[in-house]
Amino acid sequence: MINEVVVPKNAEFASFRWWERGIIYQIYPRSFMDSNGDGIGDLSGIRSKLDYLQWLGVDAIWISPIYPSPMADFGYDVSNYTDIDPIFGTLAEFAALLADVHARDIKLLLDYVPNHTSDHHPWFVESRSSRRSAKRDWYIWRDPAPDGGPPNNWRANFGGGAWEWDERTGQYYYHAFLKEQPDLNWRNPEVQRAMLDVLRFWLERGVDGFRVDVMHHLAKDTEFRDNPANADFKPGMSPYRELLATYTADLPEVQEIVAMMRGVVEEYDDRMLVGEIYLPVERLMAYYGASGKGAHLPFNFQLIRLPWKAEEIAAAVERYEALLPSYAWPNWVLGNHDKSRIATRAGPAQAGVAAMLLLTLRGTPTMYYGDEIGMRDVPIPIDRVQDPFEKNVPGLGLGRDPVRTPMQWSAGHGAGFTRGVPWLPLGVDYATNNVALLKDNPKSILSLYHRLIELRRSELALSVGEYAPLPAGEDLIAYMRNAGERRLLIVLNFGSQERRFNISELEAQASLLLSTYLDREHEKLGAELELRSDEGVIVELR
Ligand code: GLC
Repeated sequence: MINEVVVPKNAEFASFRWWERGIIYQIYPRSFMDSNGDGIGDLSGIRSKLDYLQWLGVDAIWISPIYPSPMADFGYDVSNYTDIDPIFGTLAEFAALLADVHARDIKLLLDYVPNHTSDHHPWFVESRSSRRSAKRDWYIWRDPAPDGGPPNNWRANFGGGAWEWDERTGQYYYHAFLKEQPDLNWRNPEVQRAMLDVLRFWLERGVDGFRVDVMHHLAKDTEFRDNPANADFKPGMSPYRELLATYTADLPEVQEIVAMMRGVVEEYDDRMLVGEIYLPVERLMAYYGASGKGAHLPFNFQLIRLPWKAEEIAAAVERYEALLPSYAWPNWVLGNHDKSRIATRAGPAQAGVAAMLLLTLRGTPTMYYGDEIGMRDVPIPIDRVQDPFEKNVPGLGLGRDPVRTPMQWSAGHGAGFTRGVPWLPLGVDYATNNVALLKDNPKSILSLYHRLIELRRSELALSVGEYAPLPAGEDLIAYMRNAGERRLLIVLNFGSQERRFNISELEAQASLLLSTYLDREHEKLGAELELRSDEGVIVELR
């Protein structure tokens, strides 16, 4: 029997919250668009590209930190949480950006960096001024070990020990990242109050929520016990990983802090928190909080971390789905400013399959700027390295500059990103791989993203429908997305060989809605679906 096409009912769609049905797009502000020719992106630049984001069809943008900062870690070292760094603009420019974003029915998430401040933050300057400073306990200060060395074996994520000696006051302070990023002491109620007020400051101004930086790091062991060795450590890995973070991350008290943040966000309508948490999925689930009163979305980084293999990814999707508590909404991330780009990790041929996977899985997708035009990691000559991680731990491929290069807008000067000299080198492919050219090419990766987003927005089955995995052969992943009577089949070929998928068992009439090659729309299908190398398809079943 052939059913009528069920068109998404607005009322039904509207019963889901924007961060459940929507798509998040991450902007790394230094590299998105430069309006003043200093080679560094800024808020006015972002504002000038809202037409593009609206055309692309994303629902929310998350902007990496834009607050005043000495930029030791490019904004993740905040020296004032309630202002805008002059490199990026002013509070007035931020207000103008937010108004324009909202006028387009797009949401805006800021990056909240609660674990550490900059060492230039007035709180830290005061804290380190004297052992008797009123803010001494706002940070984590310890006496030296009996031998005069650091209090314990804790390591910093960006290389070296996590304890920095302060000559003047004769104690060490703890920093999970750079020494320019001292960790706040969230066990101190004054710190809690001050940091929660930062959330209110921006919520009052109308931001729609926050991406919370290294959420799992917020509490540390009160006994300062040594971290144990990591038996899985292998040479070539970041030296930080020689130890497990048993006493420095994912302590139970973190959940209390997350609940406080959630409480503040709940004081306002329709706002949300996304947590940056690098933990195994089993642990990730805790960050939804007791009965879902934690982070609305704890970032799920599996598509970034797993090898790009059909079997492993299919198993990971099923496992994640199975682990989710009933109140938890899933999410998927394909790229960010810290990890190798998808077109490099999976290879350019798989970029379309990856896009289709991200945009057809159940759960909020987060895209990283530039992935929609297939941008790749850009090799950075040693004399142009900017990232402190690469400078501290060179040569292991840990540096993040390659994934932070300027957005490629056009084949013109500075890739259309700047009229000056870009702060990081441009990708060598910018003359052919850029928004202007790809937008006009109906078969480009950008056209594919555009079409996938359009489809996801118009199909309830894709945005909020049920997910049901199907058995599939070698190199393939297959699943159904269903809403009411609407049934969509997704089949993705992760390999470079042609593959077949049997649809006769699904006992339905099948017709192709979209191929990653953008050339098979409305094709009627027989008993077998033929997939070319690196092809993904969305099929409607009736
Ligand atoms: C997060 C950010 C990363 C930053 C670090 C320290 O992992 O994504 O860019 O360097 O936290 O704030």
